[in-house]
Amino acid sequence: MAADPIIRIEKLNKWFGAFHVLRDIDLSVARRERIVICGPSGSGKSTLIRCINALEEFQEGTVTVDGIELGPNLKRVDEVRREIGMVFQSFNLFPHLTVLENCTLAPIWVRNMPQKEAEAAAMRYLERVRIPEQAHKYPGQISGGQQQRVAIARALTMNPKVMLFDEPTSALDPEMVKEVLDTIVDLANDGMTMLVVTHEMGFAREVADRVVFMDMGQVIEVNAPDEFFSHPRHERTKLFLSQILR
Ligand SMILES: Nc1ncnc2c1ncn2[C@@H]1O[C@H](COP(=O)(O)OP(=O)(O)O)[C@@H](O)[C@H]1O
Ligand SMILES: [Mg+2]
Repeated sequence: MAADPIIRIEKLNKWFGAFHVLRDIDLSVARRERIVICGPSGSGKSTLIRCINALEEFQEGTVTVDGIELGPNLKRVDEVRREIGMVFQSFNLFPHLTVLENCTLAPIWVRNMPQKEAEAAAMRYLERVRIPEQAHKYPGQISGGQQQRVAIARALTMNPKVMLFDEPTSALDPEMVKEVLDTIVDLANDGMTMLVVTHEMGFAREVADRVVFMDMGQVIEVNAPDEFFSHPRHERTKLFLSQILR
């Protein structure tokens, strides 16, 4: 584990009412590290990554992002969110704005960037996700895979230090999964720190430095992908792998 992790989660506990959804989560992420999080539906994966950028409150423990500590009071929400880009399963683009406008909205309104500058920057990110030619279309006029790449470009326009992906390909038709995963691989190769919730185990093998397996609100096992897939240590991990790798 790195001496100076960019994300440090310590003794994180969260309840939804009486339901204990996250149990004593400890996880540190080094700069440039790529983490894949997997586990059964309902195990708390989304809730965990939503705690990292303060989309969820929690009752115990701390989440520290690049030295900014979030506790149960969520005092430093804005500071933490500035460091983090997030991409969801559903692309969440504004349908009435063009691709380019979707990508310039936050830089203009949150960062007060002049429009011309925001557009030039957005075009660079659209080039990076390889769809600059779609800039003047509306989300409804492009494919799901292209929409998800726009969502990635949009997150990048805020220049995040960490990217969180929550099942970024699970809403896509199968033929579009690869183009989105390839975009995430490109980002990883550029050194972006990332946490990716996904069941794409080929991606995990290729890209992850470590795979985190969650079940029932706990981190059950953390391991390098080779070890994780060839020698899962826990029965629950074995069961999960047997179900998804079939
Ligand atoms: N806002 C909420 N209120 C109450 N329960 C919730 C809420 N969000 C999620 N849950 C519950 O918490 C558990 C973990 O959910 P989630 O983090 O979405 O799991 P995963 O992403 O691993 O499928 C599930 O049992 C889910 O029903
Ligand atoms: Mg989820």
